Amino acid sequence: MERELTNILDEARRSGGSIVALTGAGISAESGIPTFRGTEGYWVIGSKNYMPQEMATQEMFRRAPEEVWRWYLYRFGVCKYAQPNAGHRALVSLDRALGDRFQLVTQNIDGLHLRAGATPNRTHCIHGDAAFVRCADACSHAASQGELGEQHGKLPLPDMGVRGADTPFTEADRSRLSCPRCGAWLRPHVLWFDEYYDEENYRMQTALRAASQASLLLVVGTSGATTLPMQIGELAFRRGIGMIDVNPEENPFSDLCQASAKGFFVRGSACERLPEIVQALTAFEVSGPVV
Ligand code: APR
Repeated sequence: MERELTNILDEARRSGGSIVALTGAGISAESGIPTFRGTEGYWVIGSKNYMPQEMATQEMFRRAPEEVWRWYLYRFGVCKYAQPNAGHRALVSLDRALGDRFQLVTQNIDGLHLRAGATPNRTHCIHGDAAFVRCADACSHAASQGELGEQHGKLPLPDMGVRGADTPFTEADRSRLSCPRCGAWLRPHVLWFDEYYDEENYRMQTALRAASQASLLLVVGTSGATTLPMQIGELAFRRGIGMIDVNPEENPFSDLCQASAKGFFVRGSACERLPEIVQALTAFEVSGPVV
């Protein structure tokens, strides 16, 4: 392991401070889930009729809910059958070793961190979670929550079976995706391009608070294309805390690391590099002489 990286990790471990991990689609790439902006990415392929940036919007959902659901159900199917990888498991080891001194902020909606064993109340899905849906008319926020088993207005995604990119949408699909309270469409619990981060659905303040208190920010597998993650990176840089970016390619986070006195850009994949990084962060020092 590179000397500079070892020094940053040793300082973080000895400080006993908190650590925030910030992940993007790259940590799930080795689980077989395409990233968004890579050559095979969802935003590159999209659907045959629309560009993805049009598809992942409230405006498109209002105009063509079945088309949007068809695209999401295909993507969610890919997530459902993917398995956590060594990168996800390394962050779970860090979570378990540090307890409340660890917070995970993820842009991924694939659920792989939680399936790997991440602690739910320390895992902040700032772009939502494919396993959940909400009433598109937000009726549950008006009525008393929970009577239909909602958690914060969210319901589990109904079982829609295995879907291809062009699997037709049936009346049965439509009724499965109707709000049990008001009959409106249920929508994916994901943040759309024409919507905003908030605390209630996307834990915005929680993520920023964690970053404002951390002594190390560990960024893994994100291209820095979205605002809240970049705010977290810039906050860490301004605070002068330890910053590590794990990514095969340079990106705005690696630029921040290279400009920081306590930053290091780890050019590599999550599965290759995260296990040794976590090992260094959780190695218990042998205090006193080894007898
Ligand atoms: N290990 C680590 N990083 C990887 C790996 C890997 N094995 N493979 C690819 N990467 C990196 C790529 O180099 C790229 O920088 O992962 C990053 C993926 O970038 P994007 O596809 O842009 O995904 P992400 O940064 O998560 O996108 C953020 O944008 O479209 C929205 O909501 C969507 O959550 C998504 C957000």
